[in-house]
Amino acid sequence: MSKIIEAEKVGYIYQSKYQKTKALTEVSCSFEQGRVYAITGKSGSGKSTFLSLLAGLDVPTEGNLYIDGKDIREIDRDSYRMNRASVIYQAFHLFPLLTVLENVMFPMQLQHVSKKEAKERAQEFLGKVGLPDSLYGKMPNMISGGEQQRVAIARAMASGGQILLADEPTGNLDSQNEKVIVDLLCKLAHEENYAVIVVTHNEKVAEAADVVYGMLDGALEVVCE
Ligand SMILES: Nc1ncnc2c1ncn2[C@@H]1O[C@H](COP(=O)(O)OP(=O)(O)O)[C@@H](O)[C@H]1O
Ligand SMILES: [Mg+2]
Repeated sequence: MSKIIEAEKVGYIYQSKYQKTKALTEVSCSFEQGRVYAITGKSGSGKSTFLSLLAGLDVPTEGNLYIDGKDIREIDRDSYRMNRASVIYQAFHLFPLLTVLENVMFPMQLQHVSKKEAKERAQEFLGKVGLPDSLYGKMPNMISGGEQQRVAIARAMASGGQILLADEPTGNLDSQNEKVIVDLLCKLAHEENYAVIVVTHNEKVAEAADVVYGMLDGALEVVCE
């Protein structure tokens, strides 16, 4: 299977007026579609920084990051973020004033998909994440955390990209909902051919991954493959 993302000695330095913080050092690794990757490591080790580079929110200050073989500095990163890679977060980050269905329609409407088609496809994605249609008209604050994270995954799918990035996606969930989300992330990789990259310090999430990378002080190593 082809490498969708390749990091080559990636480094990242946060630079403010007063200080420099080296958050990543010579990170080299690659990601393929169809697999779940866990990135583990203690707080401050650089996990979120690396995820934000993979999401195209910023570019490496050293080394190279390739998406489909192209240098991330040379691609249209707005389009990459809109059409190719989606991020889900510990705190779900749904749009509070949109219904469940409207949240999932949103990325497609940004892409100028017609309202009718966006609605049909949103229903399809919500079905894939196992959300009952009785919840489609509810506001995010009226449904449980596990349900909100499923909506966030459906919204990520709606962007049409096959790179799903997750920062501690089960951090706010009980163990039962955690399992639902982990199983869903595995299903997306193994049945729908997504590249799923999960930052986590949850052992169960790491156990379910196909590949585990460990981060320590900004450096990355393969823990198991
Ligand atoms: N916006 C920022 N400005 C300056 N330093 C930052 C910023 N964000 C993170 N850092 C620093 O970069 C390092 C890595 O942080 P981060 O990627 O958030 O780690 P993790 O997600 O593993 O907890 C830490 O030393 C952190 O303090
Ligand atoms: Mg973090």
